[in-house]
Amino acid sequence: MPGPARGTALFLLIFFSSLFTSAQASKPVDAEGHQWWQHAVFYELYPRSFSDSNNDGVGDLKGITSKLDYLKDLGIDAIWITPCFPSPQVDFGYDVSDYENIDPMYGTLADFDALVAEGKKRGIRIILDFVVNHSSDQHKWFIDSKSSKTAEHRDWYIWRDGKNGGPPNNWTSIFGGPAWTLDPATGQYYYHIFYAQQPDLNWRNPAVKDAMFDVTRWWYKRGVAGFRLDAVDTLFEDPNLHDNPVKPEKDAFGDQVQDRTYNTKLPEIHDALRGLRKVADESNAVLIGETWTADIAELNRYYGAKNDEVQMPMDFLFTTVNKLSPAEFRKQIAAVNGASGWPTFVISNHDIARSYDRYGDGQHNDEIAKLMAGLYLTLRGTPIMYYGEEIGMKTTPPTRKEDVQDPEGRTGWPKEKGRDGERTPMQWDENANAGFSTAKPWLPVPETAKTHNVADELKDPSSVLSFYRKVLKLRHTNKALLDGQYIPLNENDQNVLSYLRSYKDQTVLVALNMTGAQQKIDFEMSKHGFNTTKALIATGKSAVIGDVVTLEPYGVFIAQLTK
Ligand code: NOJ
Repeated sequence: MPGPARGTALFLLIFFSSLFTSAQASKPVDAEGHQWWQHAVFYELYPRSFSDSNNDGVGDLKGITSKLDYLKDLGIDAIWITPCFPSPQVDFGYDVSDYENIDPMYGTLADFDALVAEGKKRGIRIILDFVVNHSSDQHKWFIDSKSSKTAEHRDWYIWRDGKNGGPPNNWTSIFGGPAWTLDPATGQYYYHIFYAQQPDLNWRNPAVKDAMFDVTRWWYKRGVAGFRLDAVDTLFEDPNLHDNPVKPEKDAFGDQVQDRTYNTKLPEIHDALRGLRKVADESNAVLIGETWTADIAELNRYYGAKNDEVQMPMDFLFTTVNKLSPAEFRKQIAAVNGASGWPTFVISNHDIARSYDRYGDGQHNDEIAKLMAGLYLTLRGTPIMYYGEEIGMKTTPPTRKEDVQDPEGRTGWPKEKGRDGERTPMQWDENANAGFSTAKPWLPVPETAKTHNVADELKDPSSVLSFYRKVLKLRHTNKALLDGQYIPLNENDQNVLSYLRSYKDQTVLVALNMTGAQQKIDFEMSKHGFNTTKALIATGKSAVIGDVVTLEPYGVFIAQLTK
């Protein structure tokens, strides 16, 4: 072949093979080029607390499989299961002793395969929780690492000599006390930003990186559709171990508060994330980030400069709005809409108090739960629900120290009661133990299971659950809600948060009354050429007459506008 022709052929080959790779990595589900996860509704579930098939008081994988029909009918496309790998359960699974297996407490790999297969039949994908920052101290890598200073895996964790008779520097653990523990046998300290039983992996060691990438490959081959990446902010630390700046005040554990300048959010994290993403792209998988960012600039870093890191870094800034304030929500929504990637919304999870009582006023909690659903399930972005949110489950923290399960609550009591309150068993019906198990559950079932449970709420068209089902159904079928732009309305309104979602000739109006008083708003639709306003979802007596929408206290009104 003559020179230039050979050059062209080579160019075409490279061009087509790169097309093939990116087509494999990204299969759009709509004309906008959106990926499956941009149209999906995710549901986080805490396996200990979801459904107990073998009645030992702790939930399991078979229990989850038995509830897939419920999730399908609710409108869930992907479930994220918090860690279900073998673990001593010091941090309830966030201390993994084998990344490629299932803890017998939850079942077997065969149960997991069955869950994936049954999920597939119903169009529900499985997302696992990848604890990337640390393993358990019972993981074989750490056992070897600790065995001697020259062990094969010594450098898989972070070992340092002490200083002045104490730890190598002033870093403290997020769960209280120093972030260093002395191993008397080898005379060195190892680093752990969480509990001492959760030693940090040394991501500067290429062997660690490769091993961790391989773990994800192993699960992708088993049919996993992605990972939620745990604690990514803390993946790297300053190799020179500079002390963190400290503040005068003390935290709930009695430690002086510090700015974790030298052991969180280091730039090296992004290299690791790009590597994880490359592997994910081979399987059309999604990465969700546990990304506690201070602002949108920090969030943007997690999407990656070329959108080549985490597709779904969770926008926890949204959870910082702790009162029903249209102005505050508007600010956060506008900010994340201006981010460099697709927004990911959460209002509750296994580490923060449930949204039901964070926003509830004690009197109108059900109405407010619907209001919050009406908000975050109609925004431009992907929502991640938390189990029980859809039935109005309430945070029920322990009242006595001796009942606390979460070690964070045991060390932080009484200032920090831990996270048991948001992890109580799913409330399936009003029978004993809320239908979760016939045995005594690992955490007590809240009293409210009598009034807030799946069985009863399915029968009640005005329940929180019925509302979630309606909104999710609409969201899956309405182009404007799936793909539309977010257009804020009446930006000075202190009482009602309203916006349009608009896609080509389809427009949806969302109006949310964030007050306990009735509100009437003239949206002047006709002035803007909209002749009909057809209510799609309205709570209670909320309705439209002409251009005027009347919203009952904490009312939701969602309508299709047509020209
Ligand atoms: C974040 C998890 O969400 C939390 O539950 C856990 O305790 C820490 N990471 C440590 O893995």
